[in-house]
Amino acid sequence: MSALDARAAAILRANDLGGYTVPTKGLYPFQWNWDSCLVALGWAQLDEARAFQEIETLFSAQWPDGMVPQIVFHRPDPGYFPGPERWGTGRTPPTSGITQPPVAASCLRRIVEGAADQAQAEARGRALFPKVLASHRWFHTVRDPDDSGLVTTLHPWETGMDNSPAWDEALARVEIAPDLEPYVRKDTTHVEPSMRPTAAEYDRFMTLVQLYRQHGWRHEIATLSPFRVADVATNCILLRADRDLLAFAERFGETGAAAELRDWIRRAEGAFGVFVDPMTGLWHSYDRVVGARTPTATHAGFLAFWAGLGDARLAAALAPWQAGGGRFALASVRPADPRFDGRRYWRGPVWLIANFLIAEGLREQGYGDAAAGIAADSRRLVESAGFFEYFDPLDGAGLGGASFTWTAAMWLAWARFAHAAG
Ligand code: DGY
Repeated sequence: MSALDARAAAILRANDLGGYTVPTKGLYPFQWNWDSCLVALGWAQLDEARAFQEIETLFSAQWPDGMVPQIVFHRPDPGYFPGPERWGTGRTPPTSGITQPPVAASCLRRIVEGAADQAQAEARGRALFPKVLASHRWFHTVRDPDDSGLVTTLHPWETGMDNSPAWDEALARVEIAPDLEPYVRKDTTHVEPSMRPTAAEYDRFMTLVQLYRQHGWRHEIATLSPFRVADVATNCILLRADRDLLAFAERFGETGAAAELRDWIRRAEGAFGVFVDPMTGLWHSYDRVVGARTPTATHAGFLAFWAGLGDARLAAALAPWQAGGGRFALASVRPADPRFDGRRYWRGPVWLIANFLIAEGLREQGYGDAAAGIAADSRRLVESAGFFEYFDPLDGAGLGGASFTWTAAMWLAWARFAHAAG
C-alpha cells in the first residue's frame, strides 16, 4: 500500500460514523445518496462487508414509494443547512424529500462481481435487489408520469451538480417565494463562498424546498413544479443502472423484473434523441417546462458513454474540455465557455467521480486512450493536491471540502491504477 493509498483508507475510516460514511466532516455531516454508493466502491477495496453495509444503510431509509432520499440525517448536526426541520418530510430517520442520481445498481454490480467472498456477495446482492428495483420503478413512474422514457429532476440538488450552468435558465425562471422563510447558510462557514453556489441560487433552491414541503412531498410535485428538467446525467446513470440491474435479474432468475427492466431500457433508448444537439453532437439536458434543450452543454453529456450510447463524434468533442497544456481533465464546463469558473463547484472544477463514470464509459465503448488520459489526470490531481472535493482544471488546486470521502474512494477503486501521465 502506498502512502496515498493509506491516506485514502484513513479518510474513509475517519469519515465512517458507523455503517455510513459522511462525505466530509463539517460541510456534509450526514449520509448522502450517490456519495455513499460511490464510496462503497472504495470500501470494497478495504472491507467487502463494509461496502455492502454502506448501501444497506442508505436503503434502510428508502421511502415506502421506493424513493431513496438524497440525504439521511442519521443523527443531528447543527453545522448543516437545510436540516431535517426545513425539509419536514416526517420520516424516521429524518431525510430530505428529494433524490439523487441512481448509481446504486451500477456500484453494487461492480462490488458483487469483483468480490473475493462470492457467497457473501450473492446473499447481500440478492437482499438488496428488490429495494434497488423499487427505486428504479419509482423513477420510471413517479418521475415519468407521461411514460416518455425520460425521468424528471425537480431540484438542482437532485442532479448532484447543484450550480451547474446547465440549470441557469431553468432556475432563473423559478420566482423566489415572496414568503420564503428566512435562513442562514452554513456551507459558506466551512468553505470559501467563491467556491460555492450564489445567494440567488440558494434563494431558489430554498423556494423549491418550501414549495414541495407545502405539497407534503406528494407525487404531484412532479407535474406542478416550476423546475422540471430531464437531466442528461440522471437519465444516463439510470439507463446504465437499469442495464446493471438487468444483469442481476438474469443472474437471480427474476424473469418478471427482467422484462420490466428491458421495457424501461427500450423506452429510454427511444427517447434519448432529445438530448443531442444535431449541430454539435453534444448531449445537453432537456428543460421540460419550455420543451427545449438547456443552452449550456457540460461534462454531464459525456455520461452518454457510461450509458453505452456515446459515439465517435461525441468522443472527438472531448478535446475542448481537456484543453491540454498542463491543464487537467475533465473540466465540468468547457474552459472557453463564458460561464466557466474554475473554482466554483460545478461551474468548471474537475470532479473525480464524474471522471470515473465518464472514463469507464469511454473505456467500455472502445475509447481507451481518452479514458486513460482522464484517469491519468485524476491521478495527477490527487498526487499534487490531495483528496479534495474538487479541483481547479487550470492549475490543479484542491477546492471545496478537504479529506473528501468520494475522492478517496475513487482513488482506491480507480485512479491509483492509472498509468502516470507521460
Ligand atoms: C449541498 O448542501 O451543497 C448539497 O450539495 C446538497 O445535496
